Amino acid sequence: MRGRATVEIRESPELVAARGAELFLSAARDDISARGRFTVALSGGATPAPLFRMISREAPGAGMDWSRTHIFWVDERCVPPDHQDSNFRLAHELLLAKVPPPGPVLHRIRGELPPQEAARAYEIDLARTFAGIRLPDFDLIWLGLGADGHTASLFPGADPERSPDRTAIPVRTGHPGSRRVTLTLPVINNARRVVMLVTGAGKADIVAEILAGKGEERFPAALVAPSEGTLTWLLDREAAGGLEDIRGGGY
Ligand code: 6PG
Repeated sequence: MRGRATVEIRESPELVAARGAELFLSAARDDISARGRFTVALSGGATPAPLFRMISREAPGAGMDWSRTHIFWVDERCVPPDHQDSNFRLAHELLLAKVPPPGPVLHRIRGELPPQEAARAYEIDLARTFAGIRLPDFDLIWLGLGADGHTASLFPGADPERSPDRTAIPVRTGHPGSRRVTLTLPVINNARRVVMLVTGAGKADIVAEILAGKGEERFPAALVAPSEGTLTWLLDREAAGGLEDIRGGGY
């Protein structure tokens, strides 16, 4: 794994979610205060569900200013937004639908469109929001990790560093929702903060391999290394089960 990462371990997925909500809300407060807005990309899959619930619960007390928040997605399955596999649907159901008006600015990947068209439309949205710079510089990007070492929809075997001039690309995978649109690795590595949120014993082996610095050529998740920003691996005790030194220090 390139670069340094901080590893934070919590006893349970609920405590991981509490820490994740704390990171989300404090980043939003700091960035809105410093630059007048907060840009965040949410990951998909099942892992973020407790995080979305926790943010929904904690945001009012934290004085979260949703009106200055731009919500993007790290990736999306090429399905309609109300489809059971939609990453937008999960975040909307658990968090966004519960945010009081005026709510955040939503930048949905339009999964209902053909993949190429959806990717291009998302790139136009990204270029508009991050006007004047070549690569979007998200304030915060949440990532998940597949047991095969994928992250976002960057899967082993597909060159994650292809299309260096693209910010979002369509991909074909053997996973649920076989066609997807994903942010590209250069965008992920240009973020100010990246949090890799991983829970469950099923991810312990891949977490241990990547944090031990193995498999860069095999695992796209091992290539996540923000050039200027920070990388935090936020794990529960089960996902950290394969780590030798699990004091939670830096790696
Ligand atoms: C997706 C995600 C994907 C996910 C991992 C982990 O659209 O599925 O972006 O990268 O984060 O596959 O998924 P789980 O959280 O369901 O284990």
